[in-house]
This record gives sequence, C-alpha cells and structure tokens, in this order.
Amino acid sequence: MMGAKLITGGIVINANYTGEADVLIEGESIAAVVAPDSEISKSAHHSDTEVIDASGMYVIPGGVDAHVHLQLPMTPETTSSDSFASGTAAAAWGGTTTVIDFAGQIKGTAIPHAIESRLEEASGQCAIDYGLHLSVGDVNQQSLIDLPKTLDEGISSYKLFMAYPDAWYSDDGQILQVMQLASETGAMIMMHAENGIAIDVLRDQAIERGKTGSIWHGRTRPPELESEAAHRAIQLAVVAGSPLYIVHLSSSNALAEVARARDDGRNVFAETCPQYLYLSLEEHLDQPGIDGVRHICSPPLREFSDGHQDNLWKGLRTDDLSVVATDHCPFCDAEKMLGAEDFRQTPNGLGVIEHRMDLLFQGVLQGEITLQRWVEICSTTPARLFGLQGKKGAIAPGADADVVIYDPNKEHVLGAETHHMAVDHSAWEGVAVTGQAVSVLSRGQYVIKDRTFVGNEGHGQFLRRKIPDVLR
Ligand code: URP
Ligand code: ZN
Ligand code: ZN
Repeated sequence: MMGAKLITGGIVINANYTGEADVLIEGESIAAVVAPDSEISKSAHHSDTEVIDASGMYVIPGGVDAHVHLQLPMTPETTSSDSFASGTAAAAWGGTTTVIDFAGQIKGTAIPHAIESRLEEASGQCAIDYGLHLSVGDVNQQSLIDLPKTLDEGISSYKLFMAYPDAWYSDDGQILQVMQLASETGAMIMMHAENGIAIDVLRDQAIERGKTGSIWHGRTRPPELESEAAHRAIQLAVVAGSPLYIVHLSSSNALAEVARARDDGRNVFAETCPQYLYLSLEEHLDQPGIDGVRHICSPPLREFSDGHQDNLWKGLRTDDLSVVATDHCPFCDAEKMLGAEDFRQTPNGLGVIEHRMDLLFQGVLQGEITLQRWVEICSTTPARLFGLQGKKGAIAPGADADVVIYDPNKEHVLGAETHHMAVDHSAWEGVAVTGQAVSVLSRGQYVIKDRTFVGNEGHGQFLRRKIPDVLR
C-alpha cells in the first residue's frame, strides 16, 4: 500500500467550503480534512507521512469532465486525434482527474457489442479514471431490452441525438421510449438538442447556392433550431418522467427553455462548454480556409453580438447551467481541411480537455463565478449527476484522493507548442491565462508532480457509475 500523504498549508475549496485545511491521504482515499494545527496534522509531521507543502495554493477536487470523445471514429476517414492515453494525460495536465467518454451504438449494431468494444479500446490506456456513457444510435426492440442491463455494468446515462439524421438521429417516438425506460431505472438522459432534419435542409440549400465556407456551418444551425429541440426534449422528458441533461448548450435561446423548465421544478439540467463561453461565430468561425474550419463544432459557435456568451455566464451563476464539460473532440488540420470546399465534410469538434479548469478559472478572476462555483460546475455537480457522488468531486473523507494543487497566480499562454493534446493546432492559440495545476493526484498517486508528468497509461480505472443523484 502507498504511504500516507499530508497536503498542508493550502486553501481547500469545495463546492460548499473554502478555508485553510490540511488533507490527509491514506492509500487511494482521503482520510481526513482537518485544521492545520490539529493533532492529525501534527502527528503526520512526525511520522513517515509524505508532507506536501501547498502554501499559497488552492487544493481542489480533481476536475470531472463529463463529456469527452477520445479516439472517436467520426466518419470512415476520420477519428478524433486524442487517444485514451494522450487525452487522459492532457486532461491531467489541466487538473482533470475523471473523464466520461461514450460507447457508441451505431445503426445496425447491438448495445452489448458497443460497450464491450469501447471498454476494450480504453482498457489499460488511461492515465486517470474514466467512465462511459452510452450513445444510443439505434432505438429498436432489442435496444430497449439491452438498455436496463447497462446499469449493471456501471453505465447509467444515455445520449440521444435529435441531430445527425444520417447517423445518430432518433425520432420523437424513439426518444420517448428510451426516456420512459430511464424514468423506471433512474438513468440520466443526455440530449444533443438540435433539429437535425431542418438543419440538413438548410445545409443542402446553402451548398446548392455555393455557400461552402465554414461560416455556413454556423448559419445553417441557427439557435432557434437548438431551442426548438431543447423545448421538445424537455416536453418529452416531462411526459416520460425521466431526468434530462442537455449537452453542449450553446445559445441564449436554448438556455431560456432550460431556465423555464427548471423554474417549473422539472428534472432538467444542462451543460455548456468553454468554447461557447469564449469563442464566437464572428471572430472564429467566420474566417477563410483553415482558420475557419478549425472552429467547426456542433452546435456551432454563436454570435457574440447577440449576447449568448453573457447569458451563458449568467446561466452558470443562476444554476440554469449546472455543468461545464468540454465535448473534447479534436481533429488535426488535415482532417479539418476535408471540408475546405464543403463545410459539411469537416469533422465536428474542438480540442479543449486540457484547458477547461484554467479557462473557467478566468471566469472567477473576471468576477463571473465564485471560486466555489468553479469547483461545483467543473467537478462536484458532474460527479453527482453522473453517479459518482461520494467518490469524486469533493475533498472529503472517504472520497477518492483525486486532488489538484492549483497555483492561482501562475501566468501562462495556451497554444499548440505547449499543450499536451494530440492535435496540431489550438482553438486557444495565444490566450493568456492566470492559474495552473501544479500537481495532480489520482487516487492518491501523482499523475502530475510539479509540472512533470509522472503518471502511467494503466493507472486509470473504469468507473462503474451509480444511478445519478437526482430526484425521481
Ligand atoms: O462538434 C461536436 N460536438 N463533436 C462531437 C460530437 C457531439 O455531437 O458531441
Ligand atoms: Zn452532441
Ligand atoms: Zn459530444
């Protein structure tokens, strides 16, 4: 068994507490969180416990990124460029100690096969702990028989798609049936809320008119078609009685639907992503050539001038947005350029996994959210909503010792030269930030020690997640 560690002199930040405290780690778990002058601290100093000086640092629970796509086959020609190994290492560099990826049931295939093969791909590869949601791409009689069994395997959340008619799309009847099932079992329904049928018409019309550039990716996915889908998903979830979590929410329009549902007391939650808080259609997507296609993701970046970013920050303050995840899904320039002549051919997604904690910490420095809210939306709430309550997302006795020692004053600049994600460009090139993870522990073991990677690919364990901690 690993020796004990005492992290001393730092300021512990939990979702519900900020203060000077020492953290005692025994083996893989947090054994105690105590006052620095407590007997536990004093005796640790006089034993063979490793004492870690965190003076001037924040001590926070490791980040929980509830939405990532590592080595995701997007099209027959393209796979997202971070592997389970490189992506989880990059996550750790940025202070994230848990990721939840997806097993994907593509049309014509069976759910057990999708889970088995994804587990095989990830096994022995990850530097930090990982879980899997299930993307349900073929709702049929057999799928409805197979779905409840996923809970025994620790998969307690299903992503459904109102977008991508050629691939992952489910119609309203299919969605309702999976929601009815989730209302019985307590599984979480995650929704990609964009009206894909209408979007495909707009996309084809744009191409026919010679509108082939990346800006048209955004123009053909207007926010109204996100809010329409969000509204429909919410009504279906109300009818079925299931919890609903809208993924990668990008617009004021969709946020208003979530806010109304939450005001009505509905079991509705939503996540946004750093790209929707910081990047915009005008500045980033509306660029010629490679600079534009690099920023293609779905939903698209939104118009800054329409106030989406301000409203998303407000949603994070009011808890209408409960989580910030990354939707990390990077592709190298060669793949992004497949859409140089036709935006529809560009694989969707950006590289973000390494920067989420730092980017959201800028929100603290800019007065958008509090320190505790930072921890809550990046760690505590995603753990709770996805069945990791008690284990992840808090510096508390009994929890896994996933701990980040975070320097709130360290200034650095993001970019492809220095990042650890396996992608040859950065959506964050040249962005100067303050704050950085100095050391990162996963279940009591260093993954990052004083800005050096000391982890290993087999350390990360598959997380058998419980039923989400939401009202039923
Ligand atoms: O552009 C995105 N979001 N790529 C990843 C796939 C998805 O829909 O989450
Ligand atoms: Zn999606
Ligand atoms: Zn995604």
